[in-house]
Amino acid sequence: MDKILVLDFGGQYNQLIARRVREHHVFAEIRSYKTSPDEIRAAGYSGILFTGGPNSVYDPASPHCDRELLSLGIPVLGICYGCQLLAWLEGGEVDSAGSISEYGRVELIRKKSPLFEGIPEKSTVWMSHTDYVKRVPDGFSVIGTTEHCPAAAIADEERRLYGVQFHPEVMHTEYGKTMLKNFLFTVCGCSGDWTMGDFVRSSVEKYRAGLAGKKVLCALSGGVDSSVAAVLLHRAVGDNLICVFVDHGLLRKDEGDIVEKTFREKFDMNIVRVNAGERFLSRLAGVTEPERKRKIIGEEFIRVFEEEAKRIGHVHVLVQGTIYPDVVESGFGDAAAIKSHHNVGGLPSVIDFDEIVEPLRLLFKDEVRAAGLELGIPYELVWRQPFPGPGLAIRVLGEITEEKLSTLRECDAIFREEITAAGLERETNQYFAVLTDSRTVGVMGDARTYGYTVALRAVSTDDFMTADWSRLPYEVLAKASNRITNEVRNVSRMVYDITSKPPATVEWE
Ligand code: XMP
Repeated sequence: MDKILVLDFGGQYNQLIARRVREHHVFAEIRSYKTSPDEIRAAGYSGILFTGGPNSVYDPASPHCDRELLSLGIPVLGICYGCQLLAWLEGGEVDSAGSISEYGRVELIRKKSPLFEGIPEKSTVWMSHTDYVKRVPDGFSVIGTTEHCPAAAIADEERRLYGVQFHPEVMHTEYGKTMLKNFLFTVCGCSGDWTMGDFVRSSVEKYRAGLAGKKVLCALSGGVDSSVAAVLLHRAVGDNLICVFVDHGLLRKDEGDIVEKTFREKFDMNIVRVNAGERFLSRLAGVTEPERKRKIIGEEFIRVFEEEAKRIGHVHVLVQGTIYPDVVESGFGDAAAIKSHHNVGGLPSVIDFDEIVEPLRLLFKDEVRAAGLELGIPYELVWRQPFPGPGLAIRVLGEITEEKLSTLRECDAIFREEITAAGLERETNQYFAVLTDSRTVGVMGDARTYGYTVALRAVSTDDFMTADWSRLPYEVLAKASNRITNEVRNVSRMVYDITSKPPATVEWE
């Protein structure tokens, strides 16, 4: 099996690069720029991608890899900072572009190169840089230019060393996918035979060997991520896996019972359901600030697990279904913190487990689903819409009460029923109701009402890092609105959220 090394220089698109490689059915692994040439040689990579990064190569504090990497005979493609580093290591000159730094879409004029096979002479690429390659190193030639970047793409084709100033991994680079494909197949000679099945098999083997004889505790929520993580670990360690399903009282209508039944009956797993609703609600009493809610819920989750683990006996390992977008948005690496998703950012520093295992940490949502299908998880569960760890707590705006939660549960269930009835579950990636904390005046019969304003939200997205609001048919919205205002007491107004992400996020809190 071919392997590509994504050498990490701290850029925000590192995982995206790895994912783009995997999309071509080539396995990609991300490792630190500090990885030694000996380790890299021993691992037998077919190619190396240098990622972008926020630094300037001429800054002594910036991350530099060993120059020997360029003499291993392994093809290299440097992206953005990676391109500048490649040029700099080979004796070229890198400088600040100053006022003519390029951001966003620009036109690339390419020359003839294996990297650009099948790409028109002029195409759009995505730039985001302040430095640029001023003078290419000896032995290199310019294979692409843009208006302000005379060396937008460079190559020493004999040594199979390539650098591009732009970002082929982002969607806005029109032929980025083809460029990566050319690098992987034409330049590196990969065969493209890796599948998600390989990921599942190798993960199962790794955990079977690594966790042999250990008791493993899994935080099961019933969502796609934790379900896939649990089934994967179950396949690796069998009965040594105990799934603890914390019903925090913030789940959707009937959800707790459905989750319990599915995993107990369908997968025959050890599952312990803890009904901790009262405990969570009392800790959340009076709390209105979203990040506080997340922190409290995250901490309480861990406490409940710790207590359960104690009851079960010594537990060595805690499994979590963290996936890559959770990691980025919680401010790991160099990406800025946007929300502290409870299963990463809110983790308390003192935990009573020896080890945390996150088998899906490197995967994007669609990859997690593919892994789930490989594991034989039923289609409905794999395609279930995501549900945030803190549950309805971040959909009841402001203070959380049992009364508000049950109002929201009813509204949400009706909206979901109407989406299903219209056959739209796959058209939209996440859809739910939000109970706002404003009350508005309505009229019912001859009487004035003063009830909640409920918002419906439905978004379409590939990876949840960006999203657009779903253009649901008016009839579906009308039916949901009618039913909710008629069937749910206390709701006097319905609104539909038409904000994309960014600038909004998917959840309201
Ligand atoms: P946002 O609101 O960040 O949502 O645009 C992106 C995706 O993440 C989910 N989400 C969360 N998931 N803990 C989670 O496990 C959280 O605190 C959290 N906040 C948002 C959200 O439902 C959407 O799928």
